[in-house]
Amino acid sequence: MTPSPSHDTLPGRRRFIRLAGGGVVLAATAPLAVVGCTAGMPAAALQPWSAPSDALEIREFMLAHALLAPNPHNRQPWIADLQEPGAITLFCDAGRLLPETDPFGRQILIGCGAFLELAVQAAAQHGRAVQVSLFPDGEPSDQTLPGGVRVARLAVGEPGSAEPDRLFAQVRVRSTQKGFYDNQRVLAAPLWQRLLRASPTQPSLLLGQVAEPARMAALRQLTRGAFEIEMLTPATYLESARLMRIGPTEIARYRDGISITGVMPRLLNAVGVFDRFAVPERGNDTHQRMLDHWRPSETGSGYFWMATQGNSRRDQIAVGRVFVRAQLQATADGFSLHPLSQALQEFDAMREARRTLHAALGLDPMEQPLQMLCRVGYALEPAGHSPRRALHDLLRT
Ligand SMILES: Cc1cc2nc3c(=O)[nH]c(=O)nc-3n(C[C@H](O)[C@H](O)[C@H](O)COP(=O)(O)O)c2cc1C
Repeated sequence: MTPSPSHDTLPGRRRFIRLAGGGVVLAATAPLAVVGCTAGMPAAALQPWSAPSDALEIREFMLAHALLAPNPHNRQPWIADLQEPGAITLFCDAGRLLPETDPFGRQILIGCGAFLELAVQAAAQHGRAVQVSLFPDGEPSDQTLPGGVRVARLAVGEPGSAEPDRLFAQVRVRSTQKGFYDNQRVLAAPLWQRLLRASPTQPSLLLGQVAEPARMAALRQLTRGAFEIEMLTPATYLESARLMRIGPTEIARYRDGISITGVMPRLLNAVGVFDRFAVPERGNDTHQRMLDHWRPSETGSGYFWMATQGNSRRDQIAVGRVFVRAQLQATADGFSLHPLSQALQEFDAMREARRTLHAALGLDPMEQPLQMLCRVGYALEPAGHSPRRALHDLLRT
């Protein structure tokens, strides 16, 4: 998965745009109005991050928070059926999968797990417990995409059946920070401990940390290599390219995917110099631009990882629930977690990188598959939220 190039991370020597006729212009002086650029993220795409109205029915209140869950490529692969009174049925949206980078829907289901966790936390805020029944039609195969699957039925309990969750206050604050982190700051031991214990119940999960410089250096090299494999493999690169939303008009239209708000890529796109569908080749400009975007991903104070004993669909949901709790805990403690998923992916060209990463963490890829690998640290220039589709977009009533 590409890191979201939401910042202009192109180094100085690239601040010139090559024109088709062979000339160059300094991008900083280019007339922005001519190409129709307006800064930043469109407000409508961020509206779901505002506090929902108190008048919302409890299930809609739950969903208004659940849709803020972290999820791969911001696909937001969820449909919520409200036809049964007092219950929500969550379906995995078959039109929002990532068949190339996530061929078995493992990451998609982790996102669904995060969605369920936030729904449960929101209900608890109103004193209501939720009974979560996973996969009411039986657990789907771990070798096929889970599009259209009924992921869970959530039965909402009576007021007074649950206590508020201490992490709920972070739900509308949390975001995945993808920019540069401070390399000089160490994450204090109590913060690592709280991160590793963010969830009171962690059935069959293995969680770990890496903060020694030599091991961090090895992980940086490994994750960069995996990123390059994903970029240089046409099918996986193009999957990401199709999800690039360049500039406010595209972002407002789709409210998902990889938002590109930086002035430079928008300009390059507008003048036709940046073709998002040009697959990088080793040594060419697109390859270099992608490596430039990767640079922040090698900064930070360490790594946090999650693995499972076995790889059932329930395990994947549990990973999502615990992962979002870890991100909320990090938010409460003032630092960030950024998933770097490339080396975990199951497509053929990634096989060797995936094996090497498991070996580096002392895991057996068959018995203890790695589910999440995140860099951890303090964002130097915290960015805002990523877009979300409107609540009514996910509802089936
Ligand atoms: C299973 C999973 C895998 C992810 N992998 C990556 C990744 O490889 N690179 C990345 O930049 N973000 C990754 N993310 C973070 C998403 O891009 C992010 O959650 C999404 O864009 C929504 O943004 P938000 O978390 O700020 O709300 C991943 C998230 C999940 C749940």
